Amino acid sequence: MEQKKRIFSGIQPSGDLTLGSYMGAIKNWVALQDEYDCLYCIVDMHAITVRQVPADLRRRSLEQLAQYVACGLDPQKNIMFIQSHVPAHAELSWVLGCYTQFGELSRMTQFKMKSQQHADNITAGLFTYPVLMAADILVYQADLVPVGEDQKQHVELCRDIASRFNNSFPDTFTLPEPFIPKMGARIMSLGAPENKMSKSDPDGCVYIMDKPEDIMRKFKRAVTDCETAVRYDRENKPGVSNLLTIYCAATGKTMQQAEQEFAGQGYGVFKPAVGEAVVELMRPIREETTKLLSDRAYLESIYKEGAEKASYLANKTLRKVYKKVGFVPR
Ligand code: TRP
Repeated sequence: MEQKKRIFSGIQPSGDLTLGSYMGAIKNWVALQDEYDCLYCIVDMHAITVRQVPADLRRRSLEQLAQYVACGLDPQKNIMFIQSHVPAHAELSWVLGCYTQFGELSRMTQFKMKSQQHADNITAGLFTYPVLMAADILVYQADLVPVGEDQKQHVELCRDIASRFNNSFPDTFTLPEPFIPKMGARIMSLGAPENKMSKSDPDGCVYIMDKPEDIMRKFKRAVTDCETAVRYDRENKPGVSNLLTIYCAATGKTMQQAEQEFAGQGYGVFKPAVGEAVVELMRPIREETTKLLSDRAYLESIYKEGAEKASYLANKTLRKVYKKVGFVPR
């Protein structure tokens, strides 16, 4: 039997998961779980590169795990775990940092952006964030890394670090590729549809755990345009196009079907209809998350088993790397 390709991806528990995280990432992960050998991580170590409230970080890490499962990721098929539970990430990160140039890290767009946003707290951790991310990926010899457009540069850097290391020490790392699934819907902010939906923008985003009335309110207030036609046109009608994308992703309808359905109807009908579709899509996920969160023992068994399986794979790579760079075996 042919070996399945390996996938690694992760989301920071730096904010509550949104409709964008679901439609843009997790829904795709679910679609991949049979065909690939998948590891899905809660990257709490990345989250502390900017200030976090410890109790919130802990709550969100567990909630994120519950949501992975509630969204349909099967703990029997995927390795789901918390990054800080597998020390090999940090250990490999140190070695890789010694094979990464200061200049390369200085050029990372995300670093430049985040250091502007957090100008009073530009830490070494924020700077070396991409090295830890490279370690996440390389420690599992991942073939594919599902990420959004905004993370492509980090995966490219990861490849550069891996090839450089392989040049000195042949056959150490698999070179990973960014994997941007065609199905992946890019969901934009409801308030400012030229920006990606972000968990740090409470009015522009819908959280997976939002109550139905909050979801409806956010959709009714969604920014559209001064026309009345419900028509897909990303360029000139970004708000309406985003709502259409959400509607199609939530209902499984095609763009054409959706446009026909709302032909001749104004935004006053269209916006609540999108809201309702999202309410129905999120309802079972929210309920299942709540149920899982009340069963701590079960959640704990998932992340413990996940960390154990992940550690086994990660330590194999780490041992190989330590040997190659010349560390004395323990
Ligand atoms: N940097 C990613 C983001 O903010 C999260 C992440 C950390 C990640 N490590 C990863 C994604 C490894 C893919 C693979 O979205």
